[in-house]
Amino acid sequence: MKNILVTGAAGFIGSAFARYMVNTYPHYNIIVFDKLTYAGNLNNLTPIDDEPNYRFVRGDIADRDAVRRTLAEYQIDTVVNFAAESHVDRSILQPDAFIHTDVVGVYIMLDESKKHGVGRFLQVSTDEVYGDVESGYSVETDTFLPNSPYAASKAGGELMVRAYHVTHGMDTVITRGSNTFGPYQYPEKLLPLFITEALDDKPLPLYGDGLQVRDWLYVEDHVTGVDAVLHRGESGEAYNVAGENELHNIDVVKQMLALVGKPESLIKHVPDREGHDRRYAMNCDKLRAIGWERRYNFPDALAETVRWYHDNEWWWREIKTGDYLDYFKQQYAARLSADAD
Ligand code: NAD
Ligand code: TYD
Repeated sequence: MKNILVTGAAGFIGSAFARYMVNTYPHYNIIVFDKLTYAGNLNNLTPIDDEPNYRFVRGDIADRDAVRRTLAEYQIDTVVNFAAESHVDRSILQPDAFIHTDVVGVYIMLDESKKHGVGRFLQVSTDEVYGDVESGYSVETDTFLPNSPYAASKAGGELMVRAYHVTHGMDTVITRGSNTFGPYQYPEKLLPLFITEALDDKPLPLYGDGLQVRDWLYVEDHVTGVDAVLHRGESGEAYNVAGENELHNIDVVKQMLALVGKPESLIKHVPDREGHDRRYAMNCDKLRAIGWERRYNFPDALAETVRWYHDNEWWWREIKTGDYLDYFKQQYAARLSADAD
């Protein structure tokens, strides 16, 4: 392993992974390949801009020629694919881009990686492929029951990874992360949206009763989970990366508000998300068995996250303009003026 292509690393988790890899493994070259969609942001990579083992290439993972050229030019031997459309609510409004990137893009990456002779291919996936988990914990061999177009597109990408392993003998591994939070997360997901809205004393649109359960994982722990699987995962296998920290949405929001120093009266129950999964929860013994352990606890990581958004308004105020406002209006205007179901 020497020249690692990290796709989608101008986004939230991929950029944390790129920053971590560049600093942790100076003998690896980290080549970031990203389309710079609305969610991609070169500001996420400025901390490593001047590092000699980092390069940035703008490109689409579904663009076969661009992928082929990049694999050849940088003599890529390893691929870590973070690139995705990643927001459930946008997949309900407009699923096309999800099929383009999360299904077709994964296929193009696999196909060109095979032709180029890439060694290890790591696909970053999600707990959402398991669907709603009423009780117990998802294990890696569970059936996929995705419920949103986002989850279905990620499941489709994963199945293609499996097929290239079985059919073509490619060295593939998969990670399935749980709900991730931390600095540099685009302010459309629950925590960064609500922190930045709360800082401005705006109402916080909590879907339905707010009793849905998510398993919260700090981004730095997600990144070391991906690293563990990249270096020590068994070929053809998938690994859950869990926070083992289940909370009701409403409790997450109340903890956040206490840290921001704003009243709970900002919470506004609004009509629910369509097809909203009640609970995700995964077992991650398999990942622990290859030597991974979490280093962050939720209260400290949440406090650090709130502090980061408080101190880095320059980062998110620039994002919350233009097209972002159109999306916000489409997703929330009617909800915020309606009564909850
Ligand atoms: P993000 O939306 O913040 O970033 C996605 C990045 O991919 C952006 O930089 C975007 O420009 C890039 N991209 C999108 N389409 C592309 C294309 N066609 N070609 C090249 N680049 C493209 O996403 P994130 O939250 O950092 O998630 C990263 C990965 O982790 C995704 O695969 C997601 O499914 C997975 N994941 C996310 C979470 C979470 O809670 N955020 C949890 C588990 C798994
Ligand atoms: P989100 O951050 O979109 O992640 P995911 O849907 O992938 O789990 O949402 C986390 C939870 O918060 C989910 O149950 C939906 C809920 N939520 C709200 O209640 N209001 C919102 O405005 C958003 C974006 C999410």
